[in-house]
Amino acid sequence: MIYLDNAATSFPKPEPVYQALDHFARSSLANPGRAGHRMAIAAERQLDDARHALNQFFRGEAPERWIFTMNATDALNLAIKGIVRPGDHVVTTDLEHNSISRPLVALERAGLIRLTRVASDAGYVDPEAIRRTITPETSLVALTHASNVLGTVQPIEAIAPIVRQAGSLFLVDAAQTAGVVPIDLRSLAIDLLAFPGHKALYGPTGTGALYVGPRTDGRIRPWREGGTGGDSSSPTQPTILPYALEGGTPNVLGVAGLAAGIAWVAERGPDAMRRHEVSLLQHVVDWASDAEGWSIAGRWDPDTHVGALSLITPESLAPQDIGAILDTSFGIAVRPGLHCAPYVHRRLGTYPGGTLRLSPGPFTTPADVDTFVAALSEITATVA
Ligand SMILES: Cc1ncc(COP(=O)(O)O)c(C=O)c1O
Repeated sequence: MIYLDNAATSFPKPEPVYQALDHFARSSLANPGRAGHRMAIAAERQLDDARHALNQFFRGEAPERWIFTMNATDALNLAIKGIVRPGDHVVTTDLEHNSISRPLVALERAGLIRLTRVASDAGYVDPEAIRRTITPETSLVALTHASNVLGTVQPIEAIAPIVRQAGSLFLVDAAQTAGVVPIDLRSLAIDLLAFPGHKALYGPTGTGALYVGPRTDGRIRPWREGGTGGDSSSPTQPTILPYALEGGTPNVLGVAGLAAGIAWVAERGPDAMRRHEVSLLQHVVDWASDAEGWSIAGRWDPDTHVGALSLITPESLAPQDIGAILDTSFGIAVRPGLHCAPYVHRRLGTYPGGTLRLSPGPFTTPADVDTFVAALSEITATVA
């Protein structure tokens, strides 16, 4: 199988991740913080080490500001439902994944918030368009760092100061950038950073995190309350981070794998990872510019792109059909459809059929991409 679906979840994982999972599962898989025995302490130390690793990698304020979650969706729900109050105004964009847009639309439909969705242009959001929508009631601006459909990286360096100046909180969905675009929380005015551990940080599925910056202190509420392993006598959730926002037995095995993934990325550097993927995509972009009936969705700028690319297919070839043929006849895994982001497809005119998305990873080779475009040529010649 040639796996070109790393934007959904990365595969394979780097070897040290498998080793860390195996080692931890066999030696220390106890319930962290729930008991004083050595295995529980080792498990707690694993969580603590991973919080330090995240804090160092993204240059956060403190390790305890990293809240482990199940995935990016879980982190985004914690951020949105933890911050937004009835009567608030929230700004978002048409690039968002359903994990931002669905909770926001549900709050809007319940009559609790007013929602403004800023339109993108060829995959990019204009910071001035964000500025124009912010009002004194805007509590939150929620934005994806890179579109999971188009791979276009948004100018958050320009947007963050606008949001900060207006007094709103800035939530960045780094699902497609954590691990491939450097994010420096000391120089960027980001209040909440959400991401999965299972994409370009190479942890297993079931991992993710939310960074809660100092401006969220006293404002963010938990959306999952329960056991934290510490002071059990308190009738309500403790107020100290990270326990204020974490309840229940954490996925400490997954976090052990995630820590190994972060170390692997940190050694290579996010930008090197991104450049490898973008150079592979360049070959597909060149192919699409010559192939009859094919084109790419959004603007192609290799400097502001991550390793996800959407192809608009010829009219006679539905993305779903091509995805199925690639899987069954060529052993190639891609993702056809709307990619959980319907608004950007409406904007691009690719709704409801969607596009054919490919997303190479660090282990994808130029030969894999050659095989992919040769398969597309063959399918086009045979079926179109
Ligand atoms: C931009 C974006 N946000 C959020 C998510 C949700 O991530 P998860 O599946 O980890 O919840 C994804 C997943 O593909 C994504 O691409």
